[in-house]
Parts: sequence; structure tokens; C-alpha cells
Amino acid sequence: MVHTASPLLLLLSLALLAPSFSAKQCLLTGKWTNDLGSNMTIGAVSNSGEFSGTYLTAVTATSNEIRVSPLHGTQNRINKRTQPTFGFTVNWKFSESTTVFTGQCFMDRRGKEVLKTMWLLRSSVDDIDDDWKATRVGYNIFTRLHTVKE
Ligand SMILES: *[C@@H]1O[C@H](CO)[C@@H](O)[C@H](O)[C@H]1NC(C)=O
Repeated sequence: MVHTASPLLLLLSLALLAPSFSAKQCLLTGKWTNDLGSNMTIGAVSNSGEFSGTYLTAVTATSNEIRVSPLHGTQNRINKRTQPTFGFTVNWKFSESTTVFTGQCFMDRRGKEVLKTMWLLRSSVDDIDDDWKATRVGYNIFTRLHTVKE
């Protein structure tokens, strides 16, 4: 009896577990890298959706030496979605400029987390007449950063 029952129990438990796999939560907390090789670390997301972290860019529009820069953002938690939207601001520590990112945390078809984002980069200009050219727009895709140590 035991031998015939156990495969059935296995199937039953798999069926019960399956919905929780497909509803897996995409979490912002952790280390991420994007298609340009920039890295960011996001800390814990508070109950109200606030988070902070650090951003290390691989590219810069300036000739200044790149430095780690702080980021502050919020995740939308209105319906506690498994694929939440979010936004954050990076306050660049090596140039007079600011970037805002907005995006969504997705589970891709293989169950891997991916952040699809767009950004606006505001650079400082000395003259108001140069305002028209002071903002760049871009698109970045982030995946979890796995280092050899992990
Ligand atoms: C991002 O992290 C990877 C792995 O640690 C590293 O190889 C790469 O140089 C980092 N990128 C930057 C911009 O530091």
C-alpha cells in the first residue's frame, strides 16, 4: 500500500506547491548588474516601500573619476504585487548631476528576476540657454549579480 500511495502523494504535493512557484515574488533587495556592467546594491525594502542603496556606474558622461554613489527609492506596495514597480534617484558623488530610474521587477520565463528600467540623467549646465541639452534618456536591464564568492 505504501508503495503505491507515495507517488500519488508526491504528485499531490507538487500540484499544491506549483502555484507558489509561479507566484514567486520579485525582490529588489540584493546586488544587481546591468547591460553596461554597472552594479548596484539595494538594501531592505521597508513596509512602506522605501529603500536605499549604492550605485557603481561603469559609464560616465564626464571625465571625472567614477565613485560609488547613493541611491534612494520607493517600491509600489499598493496591491503587494509579485512583480512590483519602483523608482529611485541616484545622487552622483563625482559630478553635478542626478539620475532618476523607474522600472518593474519581473520574473522572466525561466523564473529569474530581471529589472526593466528607464532613466533620465540630468547634467548641470552653466547657462539656462543650454537647458535644452541637459537631459539624457536611456534604458537598462538589471539581473542579479553573482560573484564567485557567493
Ligand atoms: C561589477 O561587479 C563585477 C563582479 O564583481 C565586477 O567584475 C565589475 O567590475 C563591477 N563593475 C564595476 C563598474 O565596478
